[in-house]
Amino acid sequence: MRRVFVLNGVNLGALGTRRPEVYGNLTLSDIEGMVRERYPEVDFEFRQTDYEGEMVGYVRKARGTDGIVINPGAWTHYSYAIHDALEAVEGVIKVETHLSNIHAREPWRRHSVISPAVDAVVAGMGPFGYEAAVGYVLKRSNA
Ligand code: DQA
Repeated sequence: MRRVFVLNGVNLGALGTRRPEVYGNLTLSDIEGMVRERYPEVDFEFRQTDYEGEMVGYVRKARGTDGIVINPGAWTHYSYAIHDALEAVEGVIKVETHLSNIHAREPWRRHSVISPAVDAVVAGMGPFGYEAAVGYVLKRSNA
């Protein structure tokens, strides 16, 4: 069975009520349900945390899986710790995913310190971005 980690960082537990005009009305568990329904053949590990060290632990736990889909939230813009954790996990397809198009927002959101450590980046597709990211992991890891 294919195994994929879907990791959500700081403040993503508030989806549904947090700035719906930017992030939409779905909660994180709605998104989880969508992704599980779309890929019933995949063994998923869904995690959300507001603690950076905990996120580093989840990234490390993904060693040996097919891939990591990660929305690091605001850590995207400054967490070298999460960059380094991702960089250290080799042989796993990694996709950085954002609900919003970070390039069309405030200047400080347009830079990601995470992107150099991942294979691909999805931004601005809303919840569908998670499905797209998992689809890419499955395609790339299907060697
Ligand atoms: C986000 C974009 C980040 O800039 C922001 O801090 C988030 C969510 C997104 O999914 O669009 O928390 O990663």
